[in-house]
Amino acid sequence: MRAAFYSSTGTAKQVLHVGEQPTPTPEPGEVLVRIAVSGVNPSDVKARSGIGISTAQPLIIPHSDGAGVITAVGSGVDSGRIGQRVWIWNARWDRAFGTAAEFVALPASQAVPLPDNVAFEVGACLGIPWLTAWYSVHFREPTADDEWILVAGGAGSVGSYAVQLAKRAGYRVIATVSSEQKASIARSLGADAVINYRTDDVAAKVSAIVGGRGVDRIIEVDLAANAHLYTKILKPGGSVIVYGSSDWNKPLPLHPWLRHGVTVSLFIVYELPADVRRAAIAASAEVLADPSFSHQIAAIFPLDQVAEAHEAIESGGVIGNVLLSIDH
Ligand SMILES: NC(=O)c1ccc[n+]([C@@H]2O[C@H](COP(=O)([O-])OP(=O)(O)OC[C@H]3O[C@@H](n4cnc5c(N)ncnc54)[C@H](OP(=O)(O)O)[C@@H]3O)[C@@H](O)[C@H]2O)c1
Repeated sequence: MRAAFYSSTGTAKQVLHVGEQPTPTPEPGEVLVRIAVSGVNPSDVKARSGIGISTAQPLIIPHSDGAGVITAVGSGVDSGRIGQRVWIWNARWDRAFGTAAEFVALPASQAVPLPDNVAFEVGACLGIPWLTAWYSVHFREPTADDEWILVAGGAGSVGSYAVQLAKRAGYRVIATVSSEQKASIARSLGADAVINYRTDDVAAKVSAIVGGRGVDRIIEVDLAANAHLYTKILKPGGSVIVYGSSDWNKPLPLHPWLRHGVTVSLFIVYELPADVRRAAIAASAEVLADPSFSHQIAAIFPLDQVAEAHEAIESGGVIGNVLLSIDH
């Protein structure tokens, strides 16, 4: 089969190759999926560059997310699944061979049925961006007086889902963005208010919007950059859920947080508990059935341009999900 692969970390153009690799055979409990679209995420790019979570495998086919059709099953898997359209999660977590290939074999539970009316391009956005956004919004039930949630980076791949899911959960939403283009995207997704975190005084704007009490919750894309704001924009006792940070070693203002009663939770989507993942997957079926729910697809590259797809993410210039289309 044709696949993208690398055997050492480095820049995209240096280490990513496209060529022939053995087509996998599904082991017991696995399905073989013919990939139509592979989803590219920042963690795939970081892993390839060597700054992400390291792996010892000698050859890696990148990308955790994807969508396609089951073409074979291993023993113990219902053969009725052959021909089923699916979306994929965690193809590259603790595993060497991901979705940037014509085929991937993986545990049957990691291939989730994709409704006929949902495009493979959408399916390839669900594994990381959707599940991360869902957990960020739903990791704890709202309290009776919860009203406002701030989504940092509200036009990003995760952020754009988080804005929509927070609205559906009944929150009023403030999105932070860095440009007018991203502001109009966040508004179109339902954000009640938008703040440009580069040009506006975020604390003053939040105070003006929510009446001085602070927001109830924050969904954080960059802990290191925004940690200093929490005591100014979060209500006392409020909570922050963190899924990203530009620096994981930066000292944090723990004493001000202590006095303010800030709760900070961090998580990695690859390690969601099984019951949480099941709930998120069940919720995805409902949302996928709703054509008004929006999926931000920034660019689709052919498999041969996998390096350009990685570079597009590294450039920071794309708004939304980057995908690879796999021709057969
Ligand atoms: N923990 C997990 O399981 C998990 C899951 C998914 C993603 N992540 C991580 O989360 C990050 C975002 O992923 P993504 O796929 O959503 O990327 P993305 O599509 O590039 O979105 C990130 C968004 O955040 C904005 N942003 C950057 N710095 C910001 C800041 N200081 N304040 C507010 N907004 C800011 C960016 O826009 P501007 O630069 O224009 O502001 C962009 O719109 C990556 O580092 C990724 O590795 C972690």
